[in-house]
Amino acid sequence: MAEPDQARESLRHWGMVAPTWEASRDRLFENLRSVSEWLVDHVRPEAGQTILELTAGTGETGFLAASRLGPDGRLISSDFASAMVDAAKRGAAARGLDNVDCRVIDATDIDLPDDSVDGVLSRFGLMLVPAQDQAMREIRRVLRPGGRCAYATWGPPERNPWLFQMIAALLPNGWTPPGDPAAPGGVFSLATADRNRELTAGAGFADVSVEELEGVMRFADPDDYWQMSMSVAGPVAEFVASIGDGQLDAIRATLDPSLAPFERDGGLELPWLAVATSVA
Ligand SMILES: C[S@@+](CC[C@H](N)C(=O)[O-])C[C@H]1O[C@@H](n2cnc3c(N)ncnc32)[C@H](O)[C@@H]1O
Repeated sequence: MAEPDQARESLRHWGMVAPTWEASRDRLFENLRSVSEWLVDHVRPEAGQTILELTAGTGETGFLAASRLGPDGRLISSDFASAMVDAAKRGAAARGLDNVDCRVIDATDIDLPDDSVDGVLSRFGLMLVPAQDQAMREIRRVLRPGGRCAYATWGPPERNPWLFQMIAALLPNGWTPPGDPAAPGGVFSLATADRNRELTAGAGFADVSVEELEGVMRFADPDDYWQMSMSVAGPVAEFVASIGDGQLDAIRATLDPSLAPFERDGGLELPWLAVATSVA
C-alpha cells in the first residue's frame, strides 16, 4: 500500500476506536503510567514552558506535564484523529486543567512555527507513522534549541506478549493481519535502540539516550483480554471484526490456552516492554 493510503487508513482506524479508548482511558493509562512518568521526567517541564504532546490519544501523558507547567505554561495536546482530540478536551476539563490546548495535528506536518516549543512528548505513537523520518524532522523543527523530546515505542514482539499473543492466535488459524509490523507504520517498527538512534540521528539530534522499560498489562480473564485487545488495537481490531463467528471460535480455542502461563492472583498479567528514547 502506498504511504499516503496507509496514513489515511490509519487515521480512519484510530478515529473508530477513539470511543473505546476514552471509555478505558484510566486503565490504559495506569497499566503504562511508568512510561509516561519516564517521558515527562526526561522532557523536564518547567513552569511557564510550552510542551507539545504528539499522538496523544486521550491525552493522559501530557496531563502529567501540564500540572508542572503552571498557569503561565501551556500544554499543546494533539493527535491526528479529531475524536481522540475531543476525548482529550473532555479529560483536561474533568481534571480542571486550564493550561491545555487540544488540537488536531498530524505528526508529519506539525502546524507550529520553528523553534516554538520547549519539549515534545509522544507515547506509543511514532512507530505507527509510516513517514516517521518526516515526523522526526518536524519534531526537530518545532523544538527550540536546547529543547528535549522523549517518546516511547513498543519493543520486539517476543517481549510484548500482551500484543503478540493475539497475533500468535490468528496466524495458525490462517489469518494474517494486513501490513508488515516491522516496517515504518507497523507496531514493531521502532522496537530496537539501534532503530531509534538511527531515526533521531537522521533528523539531526546528537544527544540521544535509549532505555528499556518493563511492566505488565492486567486482565481479568481471557474474555477481558480478547474484548480489550479487539476494542483498542486500531487496525487489528477492524481486521478481526471482519472474521466470521465460526472462525473466531477457532482463534479463541488457540488463544485461551496460550494465556495460561500468564495467570497471576486470579487474573492475567501479560508483560510489556517499551523502548523509551530521549533526545536533545
Ligand atoms: C496507540 S495510540 C496511543 C495513544 C496515547 N499516546 C497513549 O499512550 O495512550 C496511538 C495514537 O497515535 C495517533 N496517531 C497515529 N498516527 C498519527 C499521526 N501521523 N499524527 C498524529 N497522531 C497519530 C492515533 O490517532 C492514536 O491516538
